[in-house]
Amino acid sequence: MKPDISTLFQQASIDDLHLPNRLAVAPMTRVTATSAGVPTEKMARYYSRFARGGFGLVITEGTFIDEAWSQTYACQPGLANSGQAEGWKQVVDAVHSAGAKVIAQIQHAGALSQGNAYRNGTIAPSAVRPKGEQMKFYRGEGPYALPRAMTDEEIADIIESFGSAASRAVNNAGFDGVEIHGANGYLLDQFITDYTNLRTDRWGGDIAARMGVVVDVAKRVRATLGNGVPVGMRISQGKVNDFFHKWPEREQAAEVIFGNLVDAGVGYIHVTEYEAWKPAFGGIGMSLAALARKHAPGVTVIANGSLHDTVQALDLASTDADVIALGRGALSNPDWPQKLCGNQAMEPFEPEMLTPLADLKQHEFAA
Ligand SMILES: Cc1cc2nc3c(=O)[nH]c(=O)nc-3n(C[C@H](O)[C@H](O)[C@H](O)COP(=O)(O)O)c2cc1C
Repeated sequence: MKPDISTLFQQASIDDLHLPNRLAVAPMTRVTATSAGVPTEKMARYYSRFARGGFGLVITEGTFIDEAWSQTYACQPGLANSGQAEGWKQVVDAVHSAGAKVIAQIQHAGALSQGNAYRNGTIAPSAVRPKGEQMKFYRGEGPYALPRAMTDEEIADIIESFGSAASRAVNNAGFDGVEIHGANGYLLDQFITDYTNLRTDRWGGDIAARMGVVVDVAKRVRATLGNGVPVGMRISQGKVNDFFHKWPEREQAAEVIFGNLVDAGVGYIHVTEYEAWKPAFGGIGMSLAALARKHAPGVTVIANGSLHDTVQALDLASTDADVIALGRGALSNPDWPQKLCGNQAMEPFEPEMLTPLADLKQHEFAA
């Protein structure tokens, strides 16, 4: 029997923003801004293809927030100054003209910075060298630098910088909202993670203390943008440099993380796992999306992770997720929603698309 896809095409909302359907493009770094972090016309064309292809929401790639240590990759776009915000306008306008909403993902690299035009070296909660190696397809090579532990003043500055970048996103560039990158091993996730946050001050300790900076960032962004404007937080267990990490506190961590985000005023939580429907801690049990639903009642849940599998996407959309976000599925099928409606075959994702660099290829912006 053909599954009933109509559920994915119902309207959804985040805070006061109405979405035309429940399909979103997941954030994907494509290192195609200028070396000064200014978004380009190619990016406007690339992002608007997803809107033309039927996605109701586009979440941008991670965008750095300040002219200090936040930049992660060379040619990553920023929202650290007015020139970068100005450059985003063409992207926002192109996506809006094609009928979708667009949210900026704001990011601080912390210890995972591997290409920063503003500073040498890296900073992090604690001086712990990241696992793994820098990513070649983002122009990195070899081990990550050993970061310097952040001072209290730097933590306060970064909380402010998230607020300023959010303001540039919404008030200058015209984005519909922002997503704070609290996932995948970058700075905020370094605070959450037990083995990268060894601090003995108020920002370290149990899971509630390790969430402190994340909560303060969410509160700062909410206070800056006011109620009604979408403010989201992306949360994961796995990291780009530690794929299989699980929270040692298991469901207690989920309760604290998601519960504290509700108190901080986020409008949505974007959970990402390799396969979004699988039990969050292995074996049997709830998925991360189900845990977000349980511990963050009333907050919109966006689920991501291999949901180009339509059966699983429909199942999650009927239970624990309000919005389904696609990464690789959207890259190989920027018109995935339209193809689904038309019962057309989907193109498989080819990792070669992202080699030798993960930058935009001609066919992704020419069409
Ligand atoms: C090329 C590429 C770049 C990515 N960049 C980001 C990013 O900037 N921010 C982020 O939160 N996730 C990033 N991700 C992760 C995706 O948002 C998504 O979580 C991942 O692709 C899994 O979803 P999928 O199974 O639908 O592909 C990236 C993924 C890919 C493939």
